[in-house]
This record gives sequence, C-alpha cells and structure tokens, in this order.
Amino acid sequence: MNVDVPFKVDNEDPLSILFNKNSSKGANVTVLGAAGGIGQPLSLLLKTNPLVSRLNLYDVVNSVGVAADVSHINHESEVAGFLPENDGLKKSLDGADVVLIPAGVPRKPGMTRDDLFNTNAGIVKTLTTACAEVCPNAKILIISNPVNSTVPIASEVYKKHGVDGSKKIFGVTTLDLVRASRFVYEKLGKIVNVPVIGGHAGTTIIPLFSQVEGLKLSKEELEALTYRVQFGGDEVVKAKAGTGSATLSMAFAGARFADSVIRGSNGEEIVECAFVRTDLYKSEGIDYFSTFVKLGPNGVETILPIPKDITAYEKGLIAEGIKQLQASEKKGVEFASKQ
Ligand code: NAI
Repeated sequence: MNVDVPFKVDNEDPLSILFNKNSSKGANVTVLGAAGGIGQPLSLLLKTNPLVSRLNLYDVVNSVGVAADVSHINHESEVAGFLPENDGLKKSLDGADVVLIPAGVPRKPGMTRDDLFNTNAGIVKTLTTACAEVCPNAKILIISNPVNSTVPIASEVYKKHGVDGSKKIFGVTTLDLVRASRFVYEKLGKIVNVPVIGGHAGTTIIPLFSQVEGLKLSKEELEALTYRVQFGGDEVVKAKAGTGSATLSMAFAGARFADSVIRGSNGEEIVECAFVRTDLYKSEGIDYFSTFVKLGPNGVETILPIPKDITAYEKGLIAEGIKQLQASEKKGVEFASKQ
C-alpha cells in the first residue's frame, strides 16, 4: 500500500499546502463550539495558521481548558477561552473578522442531518443573534447541521437585525469537496480539485466529475462515486458506531475554508464552493445553493455561473437536489420567523 500522504509537498513545512504564507494581515477568528469533536482539532489547525492573529474559543463547557492547551503551541497568535458566564459569548465575538460555528449535536447511526434540526436550529439562532449584534461585519462560517436549514436561519436572524448577511454567511460544504478529491485520487493517483455544488445533505450534494480533467468513468463508476460523495458522511458515522460523525476531516475542511476566506479578505483571488444566498435558482423557489464563490474583502465577491458543459446526469442531480433544498430552506425560514 502506498502510504505517502496525498498532500505531501516538496518543501520543509507539510502545512504550507494548507496555509499560504504570502499574505500577511492577521485575522481575529472566533470558534463557537470550540470544545467539541470538530471544535478542538479545528482550533488546533487555526492556531497553526500564520494568517490568524487572535483565536477566541467559546463553548458552553471546557473551552477554557482547550484554549489553555492550544495556547502553548509556539505560533504567534494569541488564544483565549470563553464560557457563557460573564457575557462570554459576546466577549468572544468582540472584534471578530471570521466566526466558525461547529456548535451543536452530531449524528448517530441511522440519523439524517435533518434529524438534528430540533436541537441545532435553536443553537445556531442564539449564536448568530450574538454575531449580528457584536460583529455584524464578520464572515460567519456555519458548520452545524443541517447546513441546508441552519444557513437560512442565520440569514433570517441577520435580516431581523437589519444586517445584510448575504455576502457574509457561508454554509461550510468543503468536506464534500475534500472527500470527492480524495475518492478521485484513489482512481487518478493524483490530488485534483473536484467541485461539489447543491447543498450539504444526501442527494443535495452534487459532485461535478465532468469538470475533472482526465477522469474517465463508466456509468456504474460515476453513479457509485457520486453516491460515495453524497453519503461519505454515513461511512464515518457508521464506523464511529454511535460516538459521533466526521470530526477530524471536518476540522481539516473547516480550517481550509477559513484560510480561503481570510486570504480573500486580504485581497487574494480565490474561489471555493460554499452554500450561500444566491439568485441562481430563485426561479425554482430557492434562495440558497452551494456554488462557485469568488471570495474577497466583503466575503462573497462574485457568484460564478454553473459551468455550461455539465452533463445531463449532473443536471438531473441538480433538479432533484433543488426539490429537497426548497423544503430545508422553508423549514429554516419558518423556524427563524416563529420566535
Ligand atoms: P460535538 O458534540 O462533539 O461538539 C459540539 C460542541 O458544541 C460541544 O462541545 C458542545 O458543548 C457545543 N455546544 C452545544 N451547544 C452550544 C452552544 N449553545 N454554544 C456553544 N457551544 C455549544 O459535535 P461535533 O462532532 O463537533 O459536530 C458539531 C456539528 O457539526 C454537528 O451539528 C454536526 O452535524 C456538524 N457537522 C458538519 C459537517 C459539515 O460538513 N458541515 C461535517 C461534520 C459535522
């Protein structure tokens, strides 16, 4: 078996593939849910990112210990931990440029992401209310599931506070791209970018293998690979046997996306796929879709069109995905407007 790590690079620092060191402005980053399965390794990776100058770690439990631990890593950024007492949530958000939200419960075997709605919707509403009040200009990166509903909830919360969140609120779907890239590596023998659009739940996850140069798949291979990307999360949930869902790969993906957002803020040209507010499929009744986003100082700089040369198969997946996205969006918007 080839044990070479796929992200191996030929210079001295293995993390340099993750974090571009050419861009110098430091960002203030807050993690909400920092003591959790995702929160801890995510905080670790953010601490090692030279583009982060301050890291505030908030959770309802254990965040002070996590912060003390991470703070001993010999990178220049400052780290502080916050708990709910003494207005800790708001203090953790003071001056934030980027907020990552992995707070909430994860799936157990047999659960869909939508099964998490009842618990996580309220958590996301509370946390994004604080963001709208304290750091309305920060970029908000939502990891908590179901992303297809939690992003509309956050957006409605911002509207209620008179803040335009459309360019600042992102649903993090990067793990789907990371998985797709890894699974294609197993066929191509090299790491390439695989765009994944749509949403972040089951069949709303739409990998665009047609956009990968040199990838030739039979109909059966295409269907199997598409299914694996759509339900890759279930492989982890099953293997963890009731103890949670993807945490380490999600932390990697979240750290990558945060790095891209910071680099975009610093003026670098950078495109990622993310679940954002967009008019792309407004005519079909949805206001949110994961698509190609050019990042910039304001967050979403431009939403790029879906490539014209996607296949009929991929168009079919989009049509199916849109039906589910309508329901998830409606659920989120209704929840946010109720209380
Ligand atoms: P976890 O249970 O290990 O950690 C969640 C953390 O959130 C805990 O430390 C908990 O104390 C904290 N928390 C709960 N309520 C809070 C509140 N009101 N304020 C601040 N912190 C709060 O869960 P894990 O595995 O870290 O997953 C977190 C979320 O991320 C889940 O909703 C999961 O479904 C989602 N997820 C999203 C992925 C994506 O691709 N977007 C991938 C994998 C998981």
